[in-house]
Amino acid sequence: MLAGRRILLIVSGSIAAYKALELTRLLRKEGAQVMAVLTAGGARFVTKEALAAITGERVHDDLWAAEAEIGHIRLARWPDLVAVVPASADLLAKMAQGLTDDLATCVLLATRAKVMVAPAMNPAMWGHAATRANMATLLARGVLVAGPEDGPMAEPESGPGRLMEPERLLGSIRTALAAGPLAGKHLLVTSGPTHEPIDPVRYIANRSSGKQGHAIAAALAALGARVTLVSGPVAQPDPALVTVARVESAREMLAACEAALPADAAICAAAVADWRTARAADQKMKKVPGAVPPPLELALNPDILATLSAAGPKRPGLVVGFAAETEKVVENAVAKRAKKGCDWIVANDVSGDVMGGSENAVHLVTENGVEDWPRMAKEEVARRLAARIAEALA
Ligand code: C5P
Repeated sequence: MLAGRRILLIVSGSIAAYKALELTRLLRKEGAQVMAVLTAGGARFVTKEALAAITGERVHDDLWAAEAEIGHIRLARWPDLVAVVPASADLLAKMAQGLTDDLATCVLLATRAKVMVAPAMNPAMWGHAATRANMATLLARGVLVAGPEDGPMAEPESGPGRLMEPERLLGSIRTALAAGPLAGKHLLVTSGPTHEPIDPVRYIANRSSGKQGHAIAAALAALGARVTLVSGPVAQPDPALVTVARVESAREMLAACEAALPADAAICAAAVADWRTARAADQKMKKVPGAVPPPLELALNPDILATLSAAGPKRPGLVVGFAAETEKVVENAVAKRAKKGCDWIVANDVSGDVMGGSENAVHLVTENGVEDWPRMAKEEVARRLAARIAEALA
């Protein structure tokens, strides 16, 4: 099934680099074409000659030599998939930062192909906050991650950080190159807060960084979906391969959602302001010394989740809402599912540092009951939810 597929293998510095040779053999046995880029670190563990022999191609290991011959841009455009096997902590950090100090990093920044990384490092390095943050960045950008596995290391130590075995890496590459489970589906995601103007300079808003909603959009796109992300004002970068509609107010968000229909599923992760000012002032309201503060008259905003859930023939097949609660999390979520008419509720306790934080502990409330998911990175919550949505829409 890999016949004719083009794989650019980037081999970086890890003792596990020898497994890249076996992976190449398996890929070629399936009919794939493999070209290799060897980093300086990688060359400490496998030779250029071994890689050339096993790929049957010239190995690229020098940015300036590559420029003279084929150029990093042509190399970046060649593959269907860039597979970084093994991916060292250093290369992952450079990828997260967008550094380009050698041929491998230049190709990684220039390519438009899917990128899969197979990390390999000591468990302490894999667990370090810096590597955690780099992985979250890469996941949010749609980079596919294979492994690492848990097991004995080269040094007398054991834990997560072992490079995935070549047979399993082959499976991951097959999956990465197959059309994703959400190919052909259109998914709508809302994210971020809404801003409800009081006057041209002031607004009412909810606290929301947009991290979770944006991560969900990225995870759905990574599974092959066409994603429309309707986002309130946030500082998050646009996820890769996602169409972003930027809005300010709840009414604009609803209009953008309705314009995006039909959709196979809608995931409403935005923190929509329940109320707006009944009449926003056209001019900046002046502070008059001695005068009583102006009263704020509020009007109810449309409920986007409830509206999409009751959209008749245009209703997305699966509608997922979020519930941010500070008490009786599950009880309130079960009630909210019924009240809003949606199919699932992802409930989270926001009494701690969830708002704007990088981790989330959620409960998934469906027609079949309640699942408690452990605390994990928001990107991981997104990946799991996307996989569940793919199952439900299959
Ligand atoms: O009613 P509450 O704000 O607690 O419900 C949260 C869920 O409803 C979230 O999925 C949120 O995106 C959605 N919501 C909405 N429109 C509103 C208020 C909330 O879509 N006006």
